Amino acid sequence: MGNMDQVGHTLEDFAAKCHDFIKAEPGPAGRKKVCELLSKVLADEQFVARYVDPNKEERHILYQDPEFGFCILAHNYEGPKESSPHDHGPSWAIYGQARGETAMNDWSLLEKPTEQVAGKVKHVRTYKLTPGVAHLYNEGDLHSPSRAASTKLIRIEGTDMTKVKRMKFEAV
Ligand SMILES: [Fe+2]
Repeated sequence: MGNMDQVGHTLEDFAAKCHDFIKAEPGPAGRKKVCELLSKVLADEQFVARYVDPNKEERHILYQDPEFGFCILAHNYEGPKESSPHDHGPSWAIYGQARGETAMNDWSLLEKPTEQVAGKVKHVRTYKLTPGVAHLYNEGDLHSPSRAASTKLIRIEGTDMTKVKRMKFEAV
């Protein structure tokens, strides 16, 4: 048996390890391990070529965990885009860069949103996600990605966010 880092990763193996990390530590500690492993699989050129490059959909579910509901997603984002500050409601998320570059912004909350009124947020910092970089956002961590050109990512959501109502935030 060789070192796992030196052999090709498969989606099945990656998903099973994520499951085990979340099962052992359901909070931020387990997600941090998922994030570190995602960084490793994104550095595996064969993994990216096999699971990320062929995907042409903006949001493609590669795997959903039957026990915990977390989703491993492949994203194909075309052209430049600037997104608004947001969190993932009751969920956490991990952004992993596979191709291209994301400029990620972090924001701090000044005023909570309500159903009627957007929350207010203040810019904290901007940093780059380049291929092989993965970043964890726990519940309530406010962020906004922007890109100058097309990108490909793997993201992991704590739950399928298409089923969750999103609140609005505005920068002040
Ligand atoms: Fe996000």
